[in-house]
Amino acid sequence: MSAQKKIWLDDEKRKKQLNPTATGAQTAYFGFQHVPRSQKTDRVRQHFNSVARHYDFMNTLLSFGIHHLWKRSAVRAMSLRPGQQVLDVCGGTGDLAILAAERIAPTGRVVIYDINHAMIQAGLHKVHSERIRGCVDYVQGNAESISTGDGHFDAAMVGFGIRNVTDMQKGFEEMYRVLKPGGKLMCLEFSKPTFPVFRRLYDFYSFYIMPLLGELIAGSRTAYTHLPESIRMFPLPDELAAILRRIGFSQVTYRALTNGIAVIHLAVK
Ligand SMILES: C[S@@+](CC[C@H](N)C(=O)[O-])C[C@H]1O[C@@H](n2cnc3c(N)ncnc32)[C@H](O)[C@@H]1O
Repeated sequence: MSAQKKIWLDDEKRKKQLNPTATGAQTAYFGFQHVPRSQKTDRVRQHFNSVARHYDFMNTLLSFGIHHLWKRSAVRAMSLRPGQQVLDVCGGTGDLAILAAERIAPTGRVVIYDINHAMIQAGLHKVHSERIRGCVDYVQGNAESISTGDGHFDAAMVGFGIRNVTDMQKGFEEMYRVLKPGGKLMCLEFSKPTFPVFRRLYDFYSFYIMPLLGELIAGSRTAYTHLPESIRMFPLPDELAAILRRIGFSQVTYRALTNGIAVIHLAVK
């Protein structure tokens, strides 16, 4: 692809959009577009309203089902124990929360925390087993100001969601705040494949096939154009690790999955 260099944003631009509150930026990236910062959260909300009904099916289709394996690895890596309190930030339709609930049941609790009612609603039917039903709670709210007191959770996780938060750094700071000392953070997010040839194939798939399938199946080309764009703006694994350390997390590690298409970051408060 001739536009290869432009597709993956350079580090200056990636840095700029991390913490717009601190830098006083008036605009924020919504995919590759600049939008007034004050409008980004609403744009994200509309975006997920438009995809909520098809979200799970499209995830499975577009990732050939691999997202389930990534999510399993991510939750396994947190070594959760029965009785623990877990926060699933940007929890959406609840895949990570359900996996976590299976580990912390019957006495623990997982809170699915998401700004979008339609996404929460779309996942309600998945929490059906008797064993975990009583362990899952739902809260609608913004990851930039989590509505819980300090030091409440044993673990906080965010899967494929922090990318959408206008002030990502604030989102991580909030997760740090609500964790108990010694609590664990897990972030599962898309990243940049390592092998150049594989990356080119992935770019082609992302920018040509994904929007087409989005249009044909979910009725939204725009939503599935925004997805690959937002992935290419997200901090690379080392950059994200440095951000987490700056916030105060220790023992920050990460593991790349499927040649780096997705990455699991782990950290401890
Ligand atoms: C791509 S989905 C991920 C859902 C789920 N974690 C998963 O792995 O399938 C991103 C989710 O983040 C939510 N979201 C976006 N911005 C948010 C914000 N500022 N605060 C809370 N949730 C947000 C969206 O509503 C959406 O449900």
